Amino acid sequence: MKNILSIDDLANDEISAVLDNAARIKSEGVRGTELAGRIAALLFFEPSTRTRLSFASAAQRLGMGVIGFDDPATSSAAKGESLTDTIQVVQTYADLIVLRHPRAGAAHEAAGVAAVPLVNGGDGGREHPTQTLYDLFTVRERFGRLDGLRVGFYGDLRFGRAANSLALALSRFGAELTWIAPADLQPAEEVVAAVRGRGAATATAERPAEVLSGLDVLYVSRPQRERWPAAMAPELPPVTRELLGRAPEQLLVLHPLPRTDELAVDVDADPRAGYFQQVANGVPVRMAVLRQLLAG
Ligand code: CP
Repeated sequence: MKNILSIDDLANDEISAVLDNAARIKSEGVRGTELAGRIAALLFFEPSTRTRLSFASAAQRLGMGVIGFDDPATSSAAKGESLTDTIQVVQTYADLIVLRHPRAGAAHEAAGVAAVPLVNGGDGGREHPTQTLYDLFTVRERFGRLDGLRVGFYGDLRFGRAANSLALALSRFGAELTWIAPADLQPAEEVVAAVRGRGAATATAERPAEVLSGLDVLYVSRPQRERWPAAMAPELPPVTRELLGRAPEQLLVLHPLPRTDELAVDVDADPRAGYFQQVANGVPVRMAVLRQLLAG
């Protein structure tokens, strides 16, 4: 495995191996120097809290050095340097690159010139594969399996990359997927076609209340207003604790975060809320990813 650009770069057994490794890291509280002397470059052309800081934390817990930028205005991109030139320069400074970029396809373009492993930390509305790895980890931690779960995605499913990547992954594990969103925010045709092409059962709904009683997981994602065309203003009523009154007791509520107003704060006190556990799982899972890409 050289790059992780899409969740489809990992076969199911490779996903399981990363999750198993992450489980050991989490239970043993691994910290050490096994990747000492290696350097991770975190190139963030778009804002981030979780992806950037959890990769930095994961790298440092394995003894790595970390370089990079979190604001392209402070890099030579501001002077007009191309992404591919930036990558060709930074790969001489680092052993691995994590790239976040607002343009779909940027990670693939960067990987085309990278001689070191490249991890897609989110490219536009397309994919966010390491988010998916820790989403899967959290689901497996709760249910003990990934197979055959009933998962509802609620929110901005057209412009949100986290839901795309997770739907692509779960469709390979026999999930039943329900896309819950107004028409403007239903997922793009290529995502729907890819998921159905893998034999996954799919359905659509407008509001969570219509389908909540038949779900194992409710995956909420925020309106990606920064990517919406002008004049688009669909409504996304919030998931509230009151709404969860109609949901099964074993439901797992996930959200990649950050949230805005699509997930009420009163859900945090509900035992079905799993999103802060989910975000904490980002560090051991990204440690496992770094090990997988750099060990040996
Ligand atoms: N979930 C996620 O990718 O969060 P950040 O944008 O803060 O990295």
